[in-house]
Amino acid sequence: MKENIKEILIDAETIQAKVAEIGARLSEDYKDKNPIAICILKGSVIFFADLIREIKVPVEIDFIKASSYGRGTESSGKVEMAGDLSIDVAGRSILLVEDIVDSGNTLKFFTEFFKEKGASEVKICTLLDKPERRVVDLEADYTCFEIPDEFVVGYGLDYAQQYRNMPEIGILKESCYM
Ligand code: IMP
Ligand code: MG
Repeated sequence: MKENIKEILIDAETIQAKVAEIGARLSEDYKDKNPIAICILKGSVIFFADLIREIKVPVEIDFIKASSYGRGTESSGKVEMAGDLSIDVAGRSILLVEDIVDSGNTLKFFTEFFKEKGASEVKICTLLDKPERRVVDLEADYTCFEIPDEFVVGYGLDYAQQYRNMPEIGILKESCYM
């Protein structure tokens, strides 16, 4: 697996420390809100599992899936939700948990989706942010790391469904997708 990684960008310890820090902030900000933390599958699953254990106040969880990136490294710009929502979000405080904000299309779509369903508040917590790549006006409320415009894998993030199980975040060699 490692032979296809050009450089480790964020090691496992640094990730864990930052997740604990963001979890502490969320514990404070959400102490009277009983929010629903929503994991955007599949990329957020590792981050989500670690993050919710750092939230020390009541929180419900649920899972949604966005239409996939396919095998490439560029977003199609078109986002859809796969499947139905199993919970009633009317009047609830929603925390969307995402692996990476790139173009911003996915989170813009889901923010509007949950507002239309009657959520009282929709906030975004992302592991990674690539601000240079933004095509829509969107900013996360909680960001663990800002990264340069490089294609990264690991800690949930994939290339063609591989590398999600790497404990650190690394830059994929260009030769893997050129
Ligand atoms: P957006 O809708 O363009 O913001 O794209 C968000 C989605 O694109 C993320 O949830 C990831 O699945 C995927 N993505 C964007 N950049 C990367 C990357 O560097 N590595 C892996 N997946 C990425
Ligand atoms: Mg994703």
